[in-house]
Parts: sequence; C-alpha cells; structure tokens
Amino acid sequence: MGVRRPFVAGNWKMNPDYAGAKALTEALGPALAPYLGSVDVGACPTHLHMPSCGPDLRKAGLLVGAQDAYPGTTGAFTGEVSVAMVKECGASFVLTGHSERRHVLMETDALVREKTHAALDAGLGCVLCIGEKIEQREAGKTDEVNRHQLESALAGLDEAVAKERLTVAYEPVWAIGTGKVASPQDAQDAHQKIRAVLAGLFSQETADSIRIQYGGSMKPENAAELLAQPDIDGGLIGGAALKADAFASIVEAAAGVVSP
Ligand code: PGA
Repeated sequence: MGVRRPFVAGNWKMNPDYAGAKALTEALGPALAPYLGSVDVGACPTHLHMPSCGPDLRKAGLLVGAQDAYPGTTGAFTGEVSVAMVKECGASFVLTGHSERRHVLMETDALVREKTHAALDAGLGCVLCIGEKIEQREAGKTDEVNRHQLESALAGLDEAVAKERLTVAYEPVWAIGTGKVASPQDAQDAHQKIRAVLAGLFSQETADSIRIQYGGSMKPENAAELLAQPDIDGGLIGGAALKADAFASIVEAAAGVVSP
C-alpha cells in the first residue's frame, strides 16, 4: 500500500430508517475501534440522518460524508441540500459522480464537475466516483470512460486542493449492488491507468498521493485480495456497509495491508 493511508467509506444510500441508522451507528464504534489507527473510515448516511448519527459517528472516530450536495449556499433549488448545509451538519466529505446519480438521476458531466469543485472549494473532501457501464466495458472503452469522467470533473482544479482533499472511487457500474466484482487484476489495471490520468492532470507526485478506492460489491470475502493491489487504496462500500460486522471485516482487511 505504500505511502497512502487506506480510506474505506460506507455509502448507506437510501437506507436504513431512523432507528436502523442509529443502531448501525452504535454498532460501528466498537467494531471499528481496533483499526482506526491505520485506516481512515467514513460513513455516508442520508442527509436526514446526518444530524442524528453524525455526532456519534464522529465521536467514534469516523468521518461523516454526504451522499450528495448541491453547489452553493442557499437559493431556489427545491428539494436540494447545499454544500454549505452539509458542511454545517458536520460532513467532512461529499460523494460526487456516483453511478446512481449519473445513470438513475441523470446527472450530467457538467453538474458532476460543478458539485466536485463546489465541495472542494468549500474546504470539504470529495470522493469523485467514476466507472464504466457493462456495454462500455464490452466495447473495450473502460479506460476511455474513466479518463473522460476524470478530465471532465477535474479540469481546472488547483493541484494543492486535489492533493489535500480529493479521493477517486473507481466503481464499475456493472459491479455495483450486483454481487459481481472486478477481478483484482482488472481493478488494479484500471486504477493504475486512473493514476496515470491524475499524473497528467496534476503531477506524478500528486497522483501518487491521491487515494483511489475500489467500489462495486466489495465484501469481506473479496476485500483482502482487492486491497492488496498496489493502486487500490481503500473501498467505497454499499451493501456490506449496512452491517457493522461485514463493514468492520473490510476495514480490518484494509488495516492488514498497511506497511508496518
Ligand atoms: P455496493 O455499492 O458495495 O453495494 O456494490 C457500492 C457503491 O455504490 O458505492
């Protein structure tokens, strides 16, 4: 794993309900405590649950992330929650470009770019999610899609900001929530190419310091092998993040690959 401290984040999506989110929060503290010395761990509850779960998540040593945030502070954007608001609620990072937002909520590259810049400009971390759909993979376009999504979201970003606060999550769309997972070799190959694109956008030094998470059906059974790859620096976890013991096993695997 080298110099990059692993970063594992749970994306709770539109799960669980109020009581379930509180229970999950309570269970995560003791389950994760042994690993927080060597791994950064984050949790992304719904916006509604950030005020009820955030303080306890932070007390347990986790970073709280927002699943989404709209650029700006206030304004006439019915239903949206701003970057400033999630910051006020204790978020220290925001997910942008998640495949469900790109392909279910139909967010454009332009909006992903705006959100990414807005989160970073506000001093928050940003986990920029990228990845190809199955038909793009089958057409041999994985690297092209990743390059396009990176360049489109990150062009014009200040290098120092990228170095300090940017994380990239490579999430092949066909692997999200499907139980199908990229092979460690395929994931490593994609991550290495993503790092090369980051080196072109910024510098090799900055690219070497940016963490690239893998996401898409990462679970206790496959985490160790994925996380052992040199360019896989953590995970963005959906389904397996909803059970404290499964999530803790993934974090344990991340702790296991940290160089002594
Ligand atoms: P999954 O989701 O782990 O359930 O595949 C990952 C994600 O969407 O970030």
